[in-house]
Amino acid sequence: MKYARPRGTQDILPPDVFVWRRVESVFDETFESFGYEPVRTPVFESTDLFLRSVGEGTDIVSKEMYTFTDRGGRSLTLRPENTASVIRAYLESGMHRRAGTTRVSYIGPMFRYDRPQAGRYRQFHQVGVEAIGTLDPSIDVEVIDVVMSGLERLGFSGLDVRINSVGCRVCRAAYGVILRRALGAVKDELCSDCAERAKRNPMRVFDCKHCTGLTGDLPRISDHLCDECGAHFEKVRSYLQSLGRANEHDPTLVRGLDYYTKTAFEIVHDSLGAQNALCGGGRYDDLVEQCGGPSTPAVGFSAGLERIISVLPQGITDEANAETHTDVYVACVDEVSAGRALQVAAVLRRYARVEMDVTARSLKKQLKGAEKSGVAVAVIVESASPGVVKWKDMAGRTQVEIEDERLADYAGKNLDKLKRR
Ligand code: HAM
Repeated sequence: MKYARPRGTQDILPPDVFVWRRVESVFDETFESFGYEPVRTPVFESTDLFLRSVGEGTDIVSKEMYTFTDRGGRSLTLRPENTASVIRAYLESGMHRRAGTTRVSYIGPMFRYDRPQAGRYRQFHQVGVEAIGTLDPSIDVEVIDVVMSGLERLGFSGLDVRINSVGCRVCRAAYGVILRRALGAVKDELCSDCAERAKRNPMRVFDCKHCTGLTGDLPRISDHLCDECGAHFEKVRSYLQSLGRANEHDPTLVRGLDYYTKTAFEIVHDSLGAQNALCGGGRYDDLVEQCGGPSTPAVGFSAGLERIISVLPQGITDEANAETHTDVYVACVDEVSAGRALQVAAVLRRYARVEMDVTARSLKKQLKGAEKSGVAVAVIVESASPGVVKWKDMAGRTQVEIEDERLADYAGKNLDKLKRR
C-alpha cells in the first residue's frame, strides 16, 4: 500500500530543512535580543478555549478547526493559532502575578482546515511573540519592530506595514450600530456570507473578496474611535515614525480573529498573490480577562514560516544551502576495520561533526562522497595500515599518517582551524 501525506501538509526535507532551521534561528536570536523568553504549549487545547477567544463567528472557529473527542469524551482542538494557548498557559502557570510586562515568544505548527492553495496549508508553522501587561503604545511599536527586525535580518527590505485601529469594546459597540445601519441599506447586494456577518460580526464584511465594491462606501471604525483609542493610535503611528518604520493606515484592515482591540496590523509581501500576509498581529486588551484572569492588556504578532520561506531573499537561502553539515568524513575501507573506524569516529566527534561511510565502497568512491559532503577532512581507516589513520586535508590535498594514540591530540589541534574555513 502507498501512503501520501495528508492534503495541505508538507514534508520539510534536506536541503530545505536547513533553510528552515536558519530562518527559525534568526527569529530566535531576534526575539532574545528584545528580551522575549521562549515558551512551548501543547498542539491541542480544549475546544472551548478557541471558541471563547478567537470567536464563534469567525471563519477559523466556524469552518477551519480540527476538533475531535478523545477517549475520555473531552472535546479537543488542534490549535489554529497560539495566542489563546499562550494566555491560557500564562494564567495557568501564575505568570500573571509577575510585575511588569511578560514577554514570550514561540514557534510551532498550527492547524486550520481550509482549501489548500499557494500560501495556505492545513498544517503550517508560525513564529510569534506576545507582550502581556502593558497598555502603553510603545509596546505595540516594539512588537512591530521585533517582526520587522527579524525579517530584515533575513534580508527583506521595503516590506509594507499596514496598520489600523479596531477600537475597544466601547467605541466598537457604537460603531457597530452605525455599520449595521449602513449594511441594512445595501443588504440585497451583500453575498450570503456577508448577510450573515452583518448580523453577527459586521466588521468582517471588510475582509470579503466578493463585496469589495460595497465596502468602499461603508463607514470605517477609524472615523468612530473613542478619544482613548484615537490617542493610542496616533501615538503608535508617531512612535513608528520616530523609529523610521514606514507604515500605511489601512482603514479596512479588520483581521479575522475576534479578540483584537485598538491596534491591528499586517505585513504584506506583494509577490505572494492572494495570500499576501507574512504576518498579522495586534492588541487584545480583553482576552486575559475573557480567559478568566485579571484585566490585563496585551499585544503580539504571528508570522507564517511557509510564506516567509517561499519569498526568502536569495542570499540567506544560498548561505543556508552552502553550509556543510559535517566536518570530517571517516572512510572505512575494509570490513575488518569497521570496529576501529567506529572508535576513530567517536574520538573525532569530541571536536567536530563526523560522518562515517559504512557502504564498503572502494576508497575512491568514498573519497568522492567526502568531496560531495564538502567536509574539511577525510580520515581513512584500513587494515593495511594498522595502528595509524590517514588524515587527508580535502582543500590542501595533503595527507599525513597519524598514530591512533596521537589522534585525539592531533584532532583537537587541527580540526578547529580546518572546519568551516
Ligand atoms: P493570523 O493572521 O491568523 O494571526 O495568522 C498569522 C500569520 O500566519 C498569517 O499572516 C500567515 O502568514 C500565517 N497563516 C495563517 N493561516 C495560514 C495557513 N492556512 N497557511 C499558511 N500560513 C498561514 C494569528 O494567528 C494571531 N495569533 C496573531 C497574533 C498574535 N495576534 C496577536 N498575537
